[in-house]
Amino acid sequence: MHGRQHHNIQLNEEGGLRHFLTIDGLGRDLLTRILDTAESFATLPGRPVKKVPALRGRIITNLFFENSTRTRTTFELAAKRLSADVLNFNVSTSATSKGETLLDTLRNIEAMHCEMFVVRHNESGAAHFIARHAAPGVSVINAGDGRHAHPTQAMLDMFTIRKHKGDFTPLRVAIVGDILHSRVARSQILALNTLGVTEVRVVGPRTLIPTDARALGVHVYHDLDEGLREVDVVIMLRLQKERMAGALLPSEEEYFRLYGLTNERLEAAKPDAIVMHPGPMNRSVEMDSEVADGPRSVILQQVSYGIAVRMAIMSMCMQTFEADGRPA
Ligand code: CP
Repeated sequence: MHGRQHHNIQLNEEGGLRHFLTIDGLGRDLLTRILDTAESFATLPGRPVKKVPALRGRIITNLFFENSTRTRTTFELAAKRLSADVLNFNVSTSATSKGETLLDTLRNIEAMHCEMFVVRHNESGAAHFIARHAAPGVSVINAGDGRHAHPTQAMLDMFTIRKHKGDFTPLRVAIVGDILHSRVARSQILALNTLGVTEVRVVGPRTLIPTDARALGVHVYHDLDEGLREVDVVIMLRLQKERMAGALLPSEEEYFRLYGLTNERLEAAKPDAIVMHPGPMNRSVEMDSEVADGPRSVILQQVSYGIAVRMAIMSMCMQTFEADGRPA
């Protein structure tokens, strides 16, 4: 389920987006086009009319098999701002809980003329599975699958970085914490390297860094002060306790002492460094509140920009079909 197969399934013959499942296999031009398209949508909240008709009357279904606050709601808002009709599929009250298979569920929603599924699942590869079985003309967006990928989160993070830093090429970026279990980190590393940053660092205890991390194109640090030295961007990650088997950590207090971000630790980074976190955030575990709520934190901006970036990705996937001559 990796490598070129992603490339083939995500893109149409013209190199446009058909599905958005992973950053893997997408080039710098396409990632930049997503950011540029999002830029135009980011101005909508300040306008008197906050909707555009791009996807008027088209049906998008949120299929969330795992909890979410930010991703599900910003996808719903993004679809509504594009004037689409949105179905929110609640797994706990659906017929999947009565034994209906995932594919039968898909076929039934497709029969309602749904043209896009936004999928979150705790199994890596779930969104690819749905994309491979989707009817022609139906698009799938990965809203987070297991430990594998969270590509729209990575793109809203890239949008936030570009807003603050402009050019990617001179940047040093540190991603701190539980890299091992993080689909967000995997997608961010791919996006940052594709966009050409100078250096991506991962910082954390040996137990939470994949043994093959260097193969991802990163520099590995186990000391927070060294890892933060002279970086432009600090991305803190949540400790994913629900994905940890066994004792990978001594205690949350010890973790905060070694890897928690405080204003004092942040002094190692550049004076204008920004601080990011994809959420949900554990205060006093990954980060002190004085940093989370401080002037260098852009955490809530990440959430706001998520609407524009998801609008861009949804409209690019669905306009691909229109360009192919499919009836809208
Ligand atoms: N960042 C993120 O995926 O948050 P949610 O789990 O709330 O969607």
